[in-house]
Amino acid sequence: MLKTMKQFVNLDFEPIAVRLNSAEEFAEAVELIETVRASLKEEEKVYLLPKTVDFMTKLHRAGNVVLGLRNEEGLLIGLTVVRKMHHWTDIPNFEGLPFIEFIYNQTPCLLQSVCTHPEYRSMGLADRLLKSAEEWCLKKERSRIVARIVIGNKGSLSAFERNEFEVLSEGIDKEDGYKFVYVGKKIVAPLVEDFSPAEQETETSVTAIFNT
Ligand SMILES: CC(C)(COP(=O)(O)OP(=O)(O)OC[C@H]1O[C@@H](n2cnc3c(N)ncnc32)[C@H](O)[C@@H]1OP(=O)(O)O)[C@@H](O)C(=O)NCCC(=O)NCCS
Repeated sequence: MLKTMKQFVNLDFEPIAVRLNSAEEFAEAVELIETVRASLKEEEKVYLLPKTVDFMTKLHRAGNVVLGLRNEEGLLIGLTVVRKMHHWTDIPNFEGLPFIEFIYNQTPCLLQSVCTHPEYRSMGLADRLLKSAEEWCLKKERSRIVARIVIGNKGSLSAFERNEFEVLSEGIDKEDGYKFVYVGKKIVAPLVEDFSPAEQETETSVTAIFNT
């Protein structure tokens, strides 16, 4: 199936995809999360919980990644944390996530803290972040990706659905009592269509040899 990326509105530059690696960069990430949270109404703040540099550093050291998007001036305008799950106990309040996700060979990556700078919303940055996350997961040989979305977070649900995530299950947060859904999707490596014309030619001639 062909996926169409949402068209950018009023965006006359190509965002730069980056991986954040240092304490300074994690501080930028923490700041972006704070800026996004400050733009949310009180009841929406549960959509995106605050994070610390320490949290990001530990995740990074454990082989996970913080993916970002920068504008032309280098300002961080979007990010997501991608975590490689190993066991269901890796997720606090895991009850909402079907165990099937953890069956051998399906252990997923978990997307957390997806957020876009308030001045850059509705421009398709979430599409880019999800795409980068999928590419990273594929490189890590993970073929499933999941995320948890608080019910009522329409913008987030819309972005995930547009990127072919399906609702897997519902749950209630034990500590705060809010309802959430887990969404997930299988990620597959790019198809033959993505090969260069030269590679496609080789494919064709190999097929031709086998058919003769
Ligand atoms: C959810 C979020 C990451 C989407 O980022 P984005 O780059 O604006 O994504 P898109 O451009 O793809 O827009 C996604 C949808 O959100 C909607 N949206 C954007 N800003 C919104 C806002 N402030 N309020 C409500 N909906 C909004 C868009 O209209 C779009 O809906 P559509 O697909 O039906 O047109 C961003 O709105 C955000 O940072 N939200 C706060 C943090 C958050 O909730 N993170 C998700 C954690 S699971």
